[in-house]
Amino acid sequence: MSRKITVILGSPRRDGNSERLAAALVRGASEVGYKAQYVRMHGLKVGGCIDCRRCWSNGTHCFLNDDMKEVYAALDTSDVIVFASPLYFYSWAAQIKPIWDRLLPYFHPNSKVDVRGRVAVLLSTAGDKDAKCFGGLKKSFELACAYCGWRIAGEILAHGVYGAGEISEKGDWLKRAEDLGKKLQTDEGEK
Ligand SMILES: Cc1cc2nc3c(=O)[nH]c(=O)nc-3n(C[C@H](O)[C@H](O)[C@H](O)COP(=O)(O)O)c2cc1C
Repeated sequence: MSRKITVILGSPRRDGNSERLAAALVRGASEVGYKAQYVRMHGLKVGGCIDCRRCWSNGTHCFLNDDMKEVYAALDTSDVIVFASPLYFYSWAAQIKPIWDRLLPYFHPNSKVDVRGRVAVLLSTAGDKDAKCFGGLKKSFELACAYCGWRIAGEILAHGVYGAGEISEKGDWLKRAEDLGKKLQTDEGEK
C-alpha cells in the first residue's frame, strides 16, 4: 500500500517559493511510492483554538465547526506531514499557525486517533540573505514535533528568495527538496 503525505501549504501565493519547494519534495516522494494530498490553507477558514476543553465532547476532534475538519481528515491518515510555510516575521505564516494549536485534540486523553510516531518535514522560504532568520521557526517546529512524538525527516530552509518563483532560479533548494522526498522511503523504514 502506498504511503501518504499531507502537505500543508501556508502561502497565499499560488506557485510561489514554498509551494515549489513542496512540489519538488512530492516529485521525489512519488518516485518512491508516496501519494500526496495538498491542503491549501489560504481560502480555508480555520480559527485558533479557543481553549474550551471540549475536545471530542461531540464525537469529533474539535467543538469548532470550521474547515479544520478537512485538515483533521488528512492528518488522521497521514504517514508524513509536511509544513510548507513562507517565513513571515520570523515565524509561521498566520495561515499555518492555527493548525498547530488545533492539534490539541490529538493529545487529549479521549483522543480517537494516535498521531505519535508520524514523520514531519519543514519547508520554508525567506527573503533574508542570512540563514539565521529561520532560528525561531526552526525552534518552534522542533519543539512542537518533540511534543507530538513526530520524527523529523528533514528541514529545507531556503533563504535569499523573495520574489514569487525566485526559488527556481536561485540555489539548489528544489533539488534538495526532491532528494529529501526520495529519501523518505528509507527514512520511514528506520522507524
Ligand atoms: C507578511 C510578510 C512577512 C514576511 N516576513 C519575512 C521575514 O520575517 N523574514 C524574511 O526573510 N522574509 C519575510 N518575508 C518574505 C517571504 O518570506 C518570502 O518572499 C518568501 O519567499 C515567500 O514565499 P512564498 O512565495 O511561498 O509565499 C515576508 C513576506 C510577507 C508577505
